Amino acid sequence: MTEQDFTADTSEVHHPAPALVAGLAHPDYLEQRSAALRDPVGFWRDRAVELLDWFEPFSQTLDASEAPFYKWFADGRTNICLNALDRHVAGARRDKVAFIWESEQGETQTWTFAELAADVNRFANVLKSLGVAKGDTVTIYMGRVMELIIAMLATTKLGAVHSVVYGGFSEQALASRIEDCQSKVLVTCDGAWLRGKTVDLKDIADAAMQRCPIVQSVVVCRRTGQNIGMEADRDHWWHDLMASSVASEDCPTEVMAAEDPLFILYTSGTTGRPKGVLHTHGGYQVQIATTLSYAFDLGNDDVWWCAADPGWITGHSYIVYGPLILGATSVVYEGAPGYPEPDRWWEIVDRYSVSILYTAPTAIRGLMRFGDEWPLRHRLDTLRLLGTVGEPINPEAWRWYHRVIGKGNCPVIDTWWQTETGGFMITPTPAVPLKPGSATLPFIGVLADVVDEDGNPCADNEEGSLVIKHPWPGMLRTVWGDPDRYVEQYWSEFSEQGWYFPGDSARRDPDGYIWVIGRMDDVIKVSGYRLGTAEIESALVSHEVVAEAAVIGLPDELRGNRISAHCILNDGVEPADDLADRLKRHVRAEVGPIAVPQEIHFTASLPKTRSGKIMRRLLKAQALGQPLGDTSTLED
Ligand code: PRX
Repeated sequence: MTEQDFTADTSEVHHPAPALVAGLAHPDYLEQRSAALRDPVGFWRDRAVELLDWFEPFSQTLDASEAPFYKWFADGRTNICLNALDRHVAGARRDKVAFIWESEQGETQTWTFAELAADVNRFANVLKSLGVAKGDTVTIYMGRVMELIIAMLATTKLGAVHSVVYGGFSEQALASRIEDCQSKVLVTCDGAWLRGKTVDLKDIADAAMQRCPIVQSVVVCRRTGQNIGMEADRDHWWHDLMASSVASEDCPTEVMAAEDPLFILYTSGTTGRPKGVLHTHGGYQVQIATTLSYAFDLGNDDVWWCAADPGWITGHSYIVYGPLILGATSVVYEGAPGYPEPDRWWEIVDRYSVSILYTAPTAIRGLMRFGDEWPLRHRLDTLRLLGTVGEPINPEAWRWYHRVIGKGNCPVIDTWWQTETGGFMITPTPAVPLKPGSATLPFIGVLADVVDEDGNPCADNEEGSLVIKHPWPGMLRTVWGDPDRYVEQYWSEFSEQGWYFPGDSARRDPDGYIWVIGRMDDVIKVSGYRLGTAEIESALVSHEVVAEAAVIGLPDELRGNRISAHCILNDGVEPADDLADRLKRHVRAEVGPIAVPQEIHFTASLPKTRSGKIMRRLLKAQALGQPLGDTSTLED
């Protein structure tokens, strides 16, 4: 589950049932995969032609002339909406249901492809009336409502670039993301429902806009009906604009170059400022359509449910764009797992005949805790595949998911990937023998390995750095506005070899299966959310009483990791009883609820190197009662 207690039993193998393999679109996946190892570029080229329509075809698949600024399908012309919407509306899927949305309170709404495309066009025209044009950025800060998906697609349709900020982030996080990509338009909600309570999205957005007053127009979707302030001239109601004459159902799809920006998604790294990961129209589509069709065998009759939030990469790729491109029917549930009852998810699976469920280990562990009786009340017999993402899945949770939810018949597809990779990179398909806790083999067309510091392949089962040895179409293109950081962050560790370094450690077993261990940098995965220690530390230090802070992740049974903070207080400040709580509230306001430390310790000093870098490794070893290891660089 975490770095400390992860014990890989590489001998437990679940072989796929021959009848199941025979029914797959790619029963011969392992043979295809071996062939593609010799020609990954050819593999991706063929998928780009087979799975997608293009306004104008491409002539060159990969252009590596400015590596690591790779270009894919560069002279092709496309728009992801061409494949996600237009071609379905013009074809046989026009009246097929694209989305089934269920609210936390239990209402259901559906959108056919034609209805979705009409709403997208209307909102695209609304955005246009607010001055949004090709290349502009639009920030979207909403709960898990269909309007979020419509806003994303509408932005894309115009050739503008969306930056979705997860609705769990607070004002400072939102403000810095608006500022970084200079959005003049913000789409938000009055509030969001979360476990029966409301999150005051518009109030938070107002506070963010005070901090960075560059937003000129705000569109507010009414969801909770709570009281909010609306600033004249700047703020508009979604429903008013959509009912107005600007919101025509006709809107041409902007023709984009394959390498034109599609979206920015901010993610945590080792330094304080979150990085704006940039994805583009062409390669990203190829990556997500290919991975979804191979790894999840997603077909026309499936009901797909990716239970992530659309505000994270999992949602972008596998709630919004991927399933639409493949013309699937998807379920979106507004609420949290296990709310209001521990079996809400299992009700949903039966209600909509979900055939594939894709979620995260933390959700599986949380649902497992309620006991088997909750899933056993439901048939769950429409499920044929299960999936997981976000952190290593502990074998115990894997087996429960497989046995109790999948009734032993549903392969568990453990997908390793990142915001930066766009789509799956290491994953089985239903044709691959599974080992609980391993994401198995690099995906077809992906060259991944585990290497030592010098780049030599590690011996079997030896821990090393995970690396990607060949570019892939869904790769991030740059860090928004900071190309040097892109090179430094991802391509400097193995610059000589020209390999991508994702920041994870892993082992490769004798069968070539990869077992991801965890982050090697100062990133902590809490409930699958990615948080930089630096972000939390700078939030703590921004409080008037804190002089210095160090944050580490410690193993946690449910969340994977829990956040532990060590703070040095300013001279003369005594740690009053409620100080830890005050600091937690401060982090909640600065970053968001997901970043709040579970524990805060007050200390007189922190272990540092002679050059002044905090040695978080030592704090962690101390907390875990482990040997401190090499302390020769310790200052004191
Ligand atoms: O450490 C790996 C972990 O999540 C990181 C990427 O986080 P993020 O960009 O938020 O994307 C999450 C959703 C794609 C990785 O560097 N991670 C993700 N999936 C897995 C995983 N670790 C182990 N097994 C996985 N299946």
